[in-house]
Amino acid sequence: MNKTTDLLHSDRRILLSGSRPTGRQHLGNYVGALAQWLQLQDTMRCFFMIADWHALTNNYRDTSSIPENIRDQALDWLAVGLDPNKATIFIQSAVKEHAELSLLLGMFTPIGLMERCTGWKEANERGDDLLRTYGFLGYPCLQTADILMYQAHVVPVGKDQQEHVEKAQDIAQKVNFLYGTETEPVFRVPEWQLGTAPILPGNDGRKMSKSYGNCIYITEDAASVEQKVSVMVTDPARVRRNDPGNPEKCSVWEYHKVFTDKKHHDWIWKGCTTAGIGCRDCKKLLAQEINARFEPVRERRAEMEASNFDWREVLAAGNENARACAKETMARVRDKLHLYPE
Ligand code: TRP
Ligand code: SF4
Repeated sequence: MNKTTDLLHSDRRILLSGSRPTGRQHLGNYVGALAQWLQLQDTMRCFFMIADWHALTNNYRDTSSIPENIRDQALDWLAVGLDPNKATIFIQSAVKEHAELSLLLGMFTPIGLMERCTGWKEANERGDDLLRTYGFLGYPCLQTADILMYQAHVVPVGKDQQEHVEKAQDIAQKVNFLYGTETEPVFRVPEWQLGTAPILPGNDGRKMSKSYGNCIYITEDAASVEQKVSVMVTDPARVRRNDPGNPEKCSVWEYHKVFTDKKHHDWIWKGCTTAGIGCRDCKKLLAQEINARFEPVRERRAEMEASNFDWREVLAAGNENARACAKETMARVRDKLHLYPE
């Protein structure tokens, strides 16, 4: 577990990442985030956050699925191997300091900086008045608070989130300029770190997304994985079994790159381009590899369900640890800004 004090002089590098509670985690979540987090939790001081307030920023009208999504996400994170003994796993809304810091950062955050974010620009271009809210405009400001709160050195993110870490850098620098000194900054300026894994398409070839119904979930049962893989879109030029194909044009290959051993790659590549193997063989191997990889995860999840495992208690410990860190940062911020102490 993380030591709670002295984030600015931590002996280990600090990492913060998070995601909105979207519920059961899919292979895209695994490859894009969880797989890296699993590696990093062994060496870095990690904070993994379920960003439930961020879930409201773009979907405030119906919040009824949030509790179930938090539970599913928390259970999947634990089942996949995120370890509360190594990392702080917590819920954003349980640490009220995030709201306080977001409010204060709002004082230094130019509106233009927020207006240049892709999400906001797209909402405007679509004329989406439901999204033209103060909260959605301020989404990156809240995210900045999440990051700066733990004095993170590094924030592993997907390409779409990189701009948000850049905002955090800008805002941290501005606060340091206004209220810090060279030797005593208010905040550490965070770095972003992009994953190297390819982005997995959904089984229909589009972006993998719950709203498209094209996801494969990490705790899905073996038969269902097989079925979803069997209908995955392939190289459209490979209509018949003896038409040669091009793996670069095939979703199945994108998955093989991630889930299959290098020694199988030659077999697939050669087999596909010479029509030596059929797509069915190729998909069968993929389903096997995915199932083998996630079988232990499914078992752990099933055990937790069966034993009524108290995930809330696990998160409560994480929340408490996060809160202690947040209190440290907020004391510093209040002091530097000459605000009334707590
Ligand atoms: N915006 C991120 C998402 O939509 C979630 C998030 C909130 C986050 N705060 C963060 C990610 C801080 C990295 C760092 O998934
Ligand atoms: Fe795709 Fe495999 Fe079929 Fe080639 S053989 S088109 S890589 S599914």
